[in-house]
Amino acid sequence: MILVTGGAGFIGSNFVLDWLRQHDEGIVNVDKLTYAGNLATLKSLSGDPRHIFVHADIGDAPAIERVLAEHRPRAVLHFAAESHVDRSIHGPAAFVQTNVVGTFTLLEAVRGYWNTLDADARLAFRFLHVSTDEVFGSLNADDPPFSETTAYAPNSPYSASKAGSDHLVRAYHHTYGLPVLTTNCSNNYGPHHFPEKLIPLMILNAIDGKSLPVYGDGKNVRDWLYVSDHCAAIRTVLSAGRVGETYNVGGWNEMANLDVVHLLCDLLDEMKPKASGSYRDQITFVTDRPGHDRRYAIDARKIERELGWRPAETFATGLRKTVQWYLDHPQWVRDVATGDYRKWVQTQY
Ligand code: NAD
Ligand code: DAU
Repeated sequence: MILVTGGAGFIGSNFVLDWLRQHDEGIVNVDKLTYAGNLATLKSLSGDPRHIFVHADIGDAPAIERVLAEHRPRAVLHFAAESHVDRSIHGPAAFVQTNVVGTFTLLEAVRGYWNTLDADARLAFRFLHVSTDEVFGSLNADDPPFSETTAYAPNSPYSASKAGSDHLVRAYHHTYGLPVLTTNCSNNYGPHHFPEKLIPLMILNAIDGKSLPVYGDGKNVRDWLYVSDHCAAIRTVLSAGRVGETYNVGGWNEMANLDVVHLLCDLLDEMKPKASGSYRDQITFVTDRPGHDRRYAIDARKIERELGWRPAETFATGLRKTVQWYLDHPQWVRDVATGDYRKWVQTQY
């Protein structure tokens, strides 16, 4: 049994579904179901005894201690977080609470549980912390990409809170010997992505005939990775990563935001043509995000060299699959847009 936190969110739900397609080993999925947690995404697992959902906050120590004692996982994979940079600018408190205090509370509960294991189980146990490239700050155009030794320089309340959580995870290894692994990944995209983030927002606004709001000059650069490639990297690090190490995960796929939006418009023009004109006509430039990091880029050579992981999707194949997924799931989209996805939760309790 493994324990996943945040398994009703974007990456966590993709991870849970991918894992259960490939393993018999079960998952206990601990999620608070914030606005970003969508249990309806995991509907296909209803009645599957390998998936146990626990509605709990990682900051609720007694609840987490109970889950650990009852299910006795061999590993904890920590996805749960407040994840949206814009929200962190408008309301940083929840980010500090979940990402810093919540991670600390989780680590304390896990440390207590880990100490109850026998010597072999303690050695085999893993705490895998899912983190972000944003902890490294912003690059200039000619800087080398972030490596595992790049100094931390977080710029937003979100990235600062994730940096805090990374440091706590590191400290629990250094001080208490907890067998931790950390991954720092670039921007994910794919199915189940909440439409506050660039790619799903642009797809859904485009087909709704709304404007496509590009921040600033649209030249900020991100590195994009298809979500199932991130999930594969996490499985690889879990099984073969060296305890105490961090691994950067990325797609070698840097692109300016405006170019991403152009690609999406061109795909939609082909896959769902408008009566007249192009989706590109809907692009508008809007006020920039405060403190907007200019460029992220990931040097993923360590995980490639040491663990043999490589992305399976290119940006072209991944983006096409993503657009197709949103076109094929209008009910999921409607439920998210109206908040109706929460009704599924009520049927579960
Ligand atoms: P998300 O916002 O889609 O999902 C987060 C999930 O965590 C939700 O299901 C939410 O209900 C749950 N959650 C939030 N607070 C909680 C709490 N206090 N207790 C229990 N559950 C809680 O996020 P995501 O995009 O899937 O990101 C998952 C992880 O991956 C995060 O740690 C994020 O920092 C990291 N990450 C994300 C990206 C990306 O591009 N999305 C890239 C690199 C790293
Ligand atoms: O780099 C990894 C990070 O990627 C993760 O740690 C975060 O959890 C995840 O949200 C993501 O952060 P970003 O801020 O890079 O993602 P977002 O989709 O919000 O924005 C991507 C870029 O697009 C960014 O430069 C801001 C810009 N943008 C975003 C939105 C929502 C726009 O131009 N217009 C928009 O409407």
